[in-house]
Amino acid sequence: MTAAGGLAALAGSHGVVVCCGSGGVGKTTTAAAIAVEGARRGRRACVVTIDPAKRLADALGLAELTNEPSRVEGDWPEPGELWALMLDTKSTFDGLVTRYAGSPEQARAILENRLYRNIAGALSGTQEYMAMEKLYELHADGRFDLVVVDTPPTRNALDFLDAPRRLTRFLDNRVFRLLMMPTRAYMRAVSVATQAFLRTISRVVGGEVVADAVAFFQAFEGMEEGFRVRARRMEELLADPDTAFVLVASPRRDAVGEALFFADKLRESSINVDALVVNRLHPRFGGEGGQLREGAEAVRARAESLAGTPLAPFYANLADFRQVAEREETHFAELAARVAPAPVARVPFLAGDVHDLDGLTAVGRWLFA
Ligand SMILES: Nc1ncnc2c1ncn2[C@@H]1O[C@H](COP(=O)(O)OP(=O)(O)OP(=O)(O)O)[C@@H](O)[C@H]1O
Ligand SMILES: [Mg+2]
Repeated sequence: MTAAGGLAALAGSHGVVVCCGSGGVGKTTTAAAIAVEGARRGRRACVVTIDPAKRLADALGLAELTNEPSRVEGDWPEPGELWALMLDTKSTFDGLVTRYAGSPEQARAILENRLYRNIAGALSGTQEYMAMEKLYELHADGRFDLVVVDTPPTRNALDFLDAPRRLTRFLDNRVFRLLMMPTRAYMRAVSVATQAFLRTISRVVGGEVVADAVAFFQAFEGMEEGFRVRARRMEELLADPDTAFVLVASPRRDAVGEALFFADKLRESSINVDALVVNRLHPRFGGEGGQLREGAEAVRARAESLAGTPLAPFYANLADFRQVAEREETHFAELAARVAPAPVARVPFLAGDVHDLDGLTAVGRWLFA
């Protein structure tokens, strides 16, 4: 399978495509381009972006993206459709509470709880978990043939994949279980030591905070089983052969190191990389037409042999560019080998930012040519 055939085939046949990679490498851009390609292939595609800069809304010609899918106009062949949404962690969490609470009163008690209001959008790991919930919801929805997920820029590459498991661990945590107990049973169950501990916390963070926490966990009662069941289904969805993983990387040496680490972590989770995108490569100037095929060193020698002539600086310049391109090739060769036989798509440094459908089309030409 060629690189282009590989990525185009993913956009054309898989139900879920997850774009992952470290910060700033081009995940959002790649995810959007894959969804556009899906629509071009007559599929009903939806891209979930995590891009607070709203750059992608502009790129897709929308005034703004919300937490619900908005339709993007384009002349896609029937029955192709393109939809996009921008993950809003707090709204997604609120939506879950409203949908899965046992009663409207329970939903209100949680939504109005001060602790909930503080953590819903800000707690570390919440964004990753809500991205998973959103993916799960859209996949189960049936309106889309293809859901493309742009993953959050996390320091730990696997926070996203790990989110369902971490939630399950949290629900199984002893402190959580204690706090979930109805008040009286809870007071009987907590040891003198724990009570002393809670008193100390109360003194430090304020009794109100502890009361909010206890009220929050009690309001949550009965909902944790639903969270647990969905977390398990999300893990199954990630492991499903219909779900593809695209690793986006930059050819800079440090970024390749991060991507190698990422690829290893994926493998530890028994996940294969289905395609590698190397983004923002320096092009090999002057080499396409067949002239000047030689490498940086040969071009440098030519520059030296022409010293003093007007052509020398141009050759020296070309040698510099070619050296950068060659170094990049060496840097990511190891990465390509690590994810083999995954196809590799190369995207050069484009002249401008990718901020409209034309930009996405330009990226797409390299991704799916
Ligand atoms: N091949 C390219 N050539 C030129 N500019 C690019 C290219 N790919 C991406 N960009 C630009 O680089 C910036 C970062 O890209 P993008 O937002 O897709 O990265 P990201 O991995 O989603 O970042 P983050 O981790 O912050 O979410 C954007 O401004 C985008 O327009
Ligand atoms: Mg992004």
